[in-house]
Order: sequence, then structure tokens, then C-alpha cells
Amino acid sequence: MTRQEVEKYRKPVRILHWIHTGAFIVLFLTGLVLFIPALGFLAEDSWTRVIHRIGAAVFIIAPIIYIILDPGSVGKGLKQAFTWGADDLGWLKAAPVYYFQGKEEGMPPQGAMNTGQKMWWFMVVVFGALFVVTGAIMWFAKEAAPAGLLQWMVFVHDIAFIVTGSMLFLHIYLGVFHPLMKESWSAMTSGKISTEYARAHHEKWYVENFSDKEEKTS
Ligand code: HEM
Ligand code: HEM
Repeated sequence: MTRQEVEKYRKPVRILHWIHTGAFIVLFLTGLVLFIPALGFLAEDSWTRVIHRIGAAVFIIAPIIYIILDPGSVGKGLKQAFTWGADDLGWLKAAPVYYFQGKEEGMPPQGAMNTGQKMWWFMVVVFGALFVVTGAIMWFAKEAAPAGLLQWMVFVHDIAFIVTGSMLFLHIYLGVFHPLMKESWSAMTSGKISTEYARAHHEKWYVENFSDKEEKTS
């Protein structure tokens, strides 16, 4: 049977997503070793610290390359993520009933990103910047910076670690396991979702971009 599909994420976006995910997981695990005193023995000969710094370099360089290659789509993504309207408030009100009981009636139509995705974008951008600034100060100014400032940097880095680390579990659950998000995974792997899924989950985006020119694939 032939099903109709549309492209949700282009290949460069998917490559960036998975490289960034790999770097984040490395940073999370090597950070955990420093964060939990009982695991401190793993960091004793400093190899986890070296890997943390390699992970940080990838975490910073990958999006910079992407921004240089395609500044337009980064700007578009940021604009979408940071533009909120009445439908986003409607989404926030309807989301608990939708995600826990599967009742779709109250869900307002969404654009390319739904409100939950906008919130995740917001977190990735804001906490990503906090990680980079606080991490760079701990890395390059360890000797020069006052002890009080360094303590603050560790504190903010730890808060970002706790917040993004816990939200990542929710992101993975929604992207991979939640029964209503059944095409999320293919959106970020093959890049494609069915037109029905696009219409149901991102109606405004679908109508604006594809309603009159559907792509046929098997
Ligand atoms: C992206 C840029 C990042 C840079 C430049 C960076 C850099 C650093 C540096 C220099 C340290 C101190 C390590 C040491 O004592 O030798 C550190 C610690 C740490 N990092 Fe990162 N990091 C970054 C991102 C992340 C991310 C994404 C996570 C977790 C998701 C993370 C979690 C941690 C944790 C938990 C610690 C231990 C802090 C403590 O001592 O309590 N870092 N990081
Ligand atoms: C194993 C870890 C991860 C998995 C399985 C995963 C999976 C996914 C999936 C399936 C999507 C597509 C959602 C959709 O459009 O329906 C997605 C989107 C996205 N992911 Fe991840 N992801 C992971 C880690 C990360 C990390 C570490 C970051 C940030 C550093 C991140 C940032 C994003 C962003 C910004 C989007 C687009 C907005 C959204 O859909 O929430 N992801 N991810």
C-alpha cells in the first residue's frame, strides 16, 4: 500500500540532532562522575575530565558549523520557538488531558513545533548557553578567576545539568515511547512522517506547506 508522506526534518538537521545527542550523553555521563562524590574514583586519573572537554568541543562546534552552513533555517527555528500565541496557551491547558488520557478534542492546531517542543527548544538554547559560558570559565579561567566566581559557575553548571538531564528523559519518552507520538522517531531518523500524522499533530504547518502538493512515497 502506498502512503503519503512529507518531510519533517531535513538531513542536516537530523545529523546535527544525533551528533548533539551523542555529545550531550558523553557530557552527561562524564559530568555525573564529577557530580556524584561516590563516583569520584572514576575521575581520579582525569580521563573523564578529558572526555568531558572533548564532548564539550563537539557540543559547541557542531551547532556553529550548522549555523554557518544554514543561518536562515536556524533563525527561522529560533523565531518559531520564541513566538508564542493564544494557541500555545490553549495547548498548555489541553496537554494534560491529551497526553494522559488521549483526548484530542481540546488541542488547538499547532505549527511545525508544538508548544512542548517550543519549550524544549527554549531549554536547549538557554541551558546550552549557560553550560558553555560556565564550562568555559571553569576550563580556561580556573587559575585566574576568583574562587567565589568559580563556585557560582559550578553551581549554575550543576543546575543546568539537573534540569536538562531530567527533561531529557521526558524528551526521550515523548520522542520514542509515548503511544500518541508514534511517528516522532521516524521524523528524526528517516525525516518523514505521514500526511495524516502531520495533519493531526502540526495542522497549521501542514496546511501552510503541503496541503496542495503532497509527496507520494511508498
Ligand atoms: C557544552 C559545554 C560544556 C563545557 C565547556 C563544560 C566544561 C566543564 C568543566 C571545565 C568542568 C569542570 C571539570 C573539572 O573539574 O575538571 C565541568 C564539570 C561538570 N560538567 Fe560540564 N561542560 C559543558 C557541558 C556540560 C553538559 C551538557 C553537562 C551535562 C548534561 C555537564 C555536566 C557537568 C557536571 C555535572 C560537572 C561537575 C560539576 C561539579 O563539580 O559539581 N557539562 N564541565
Ligand atoms: C537519546 C536521546 C534523544 C532522543 C531519542 C531524541 C529523539 C528526538 C525525536 C524523536 C525528535 C523528533 C520529535 C518530533 O518532531 O516529533 C527530537 C527532536 C528534537 N530533539 Fe531530540 N532526542 C534525544 C536527545 C536530544 C538532545 C540531547 C537534545 C539537545 C541537546 C535534543 C534536542 C532536540 C530538539 C531541539 C528537537 C526539536 C524539537 C522537538 O521536537 O522537541 N534531543 N528528538
